[in-house]
Amino acid sequence: MTPANASPVSLTRHLIEEERRGHICADLRLLLEVAARACKSISVAVGKGALGGVLGEAEAAAGGTSVNVQGEAQKKLDVLSNEILLEANAWGGHLAACASEEMEHCQPIPDAYPRGNYLLLFDPLDGSSNIDVNVSVGTIFSVLRCPDDVGTPCDEHFLQPGTAQVAAGYCIYGPSTMLVLTIGHGTHAFTLDREQGAFLLTRKHMQVPEQTKEFAINMSNQRHWEAPMQAYVRDLLAGREGPRGKDFNMRWIASMVADVHRILTRGGVFIYPRDRKDPGKAGKLRLMYEANPMALLVEQAGGAATNGRDRILDIAPGELHQRVPVFLGSRDEVAEATRYHREHD
Ligand code: AHG
Ligand code: MN
Ligand code: MN
Ligand code: MN
Repeated sequence: MTPANASPVSLTRHLIEEERRGHICADLRLLLEVAARACKSISVAVGKGALGGVLGEAEAAAGGTSVNVQGEAQKKLDVLSNEILLEANAWGGHLAACASEEMEHCQPIPDAYPRGNYLLLFDPLDGSSNIDVNVSVGTIFSVLRCPDDVGTPCDEHFLQPGTAQVAAGYCIYGPSTMLVLTIGHGTHAFTLDREQGAFLLTRKHMQVPEQTKEFAINMSNQRHWEAPMQAYVRDLLAGREGPRGKDFNMRWIASMVADVHRILTRGGVFIYPRDRKDPGKAGKLRLMYEANPMALLVEQAGGAATNGRDRILDIAPGELHQRVPVFLGSRDEVAEATRYHREHD
C-alpha cells in the first residue's frame, strides 16, 4: 500500500512493477518507454506552436500541399510527429516494424538495427485539423506481436484483430500532456511532469460509467447518415425516455483523442458512423490506428466499442488503412445505439 505522502509512481516504475507481476516482458516494457519518450518530443514540438514553425500544412516535394495515403492534406506536425516516432523506434531493438496512418506501407526496422518481436502502429498526430487553432491533439498507438519466422515483416503481418493487441495507448497534448495506457490490466493515466521530464501516475483504473448524458457526434453529417443512425439521433433529440430522461449534452472536439479522454474521465459516448458522404468508405476513422487502440482502452475501463453491429476488437482486418464506424464509451448507451442498428438489419 503506497503511503499517502509517497512520491508519485513514474511510468518507468509502473512498468517495472507490471513486469514483476508477469503482465509484460522487458522488451514490451522498453518499447513502451521508447514510445512514451517519442510522445514527449512531440509534446515539445506541439507546445511551441507558431514559435516552432510547425503550424500549417506540409509542402509536397513537387510543390503545393502534401497529401497522405488517406487523401488528407498533411499538416507539418503530422509529418514531424511521424518522423519522431519512426526515428525513436528504429534503434530500440524491440520492434520488427512500424505502420503509420501517414504512410502507405509498413516500415520494417532498418537492417542496421537489431529487430525485435513487436509491431507498432500509430496515428502520429490525431485531430490535426485542430493544430492551427490551438485545440488539444494527440498521438494514438497500438502494439501487436510480430508473427514468428516471417523474415522482413510486411503489411499483411499487421492484419490482426484488436483482441491481439498487447498494449494500446494515446498521448493527449492538452493543458497538460497525459499518457493513457493499457497492457490488458486496466487503463491508467500518467501526467507529464515537465521539470522531471517524467510521466507520473495520476489516475489508476479509469472507469467509464455505464450510463451517460454526454454525446460526441458530429451533427453536421446528419443528412448523410444511414436510417438507423438517423432514428437513434432523432429519438435522442426528442428526449427519448429511459435512464437518461430528457436532458443531455453534446460535445464534439474533432480530436478523437480529446473526445475519448473526456469519456474515459467522466463518461459519455463517441459516435462516428458510416455516412453517404464517402459511400465507398465505412466511415472516417481507421480500424488499425484509431478504433482498435481506443476500443481496447475503453473496454479495459469498463466501457464498450462496436461498429454499430459487432465488437470492434473482434473485426478481422482486410487491409492496413481499413475504416470502420465507431460507437464507443458508456456501455448502456453503446448497447442502445447498437440495438438500433441491429434491429434495422
Ligand atoms: P486525424 O487528424 O488523425 O486525421 O484524425 C481526425 C479524426 C478524429 O481525430 C476526429 O474524431 C475526426 O477525425 C473528426 O472528424 P470531422 O472533422 O469530420 O468531425
Ligand atoms: Mn489525418
Ligand atoms: Mn486520427
Ligand atoms: Mn492523424
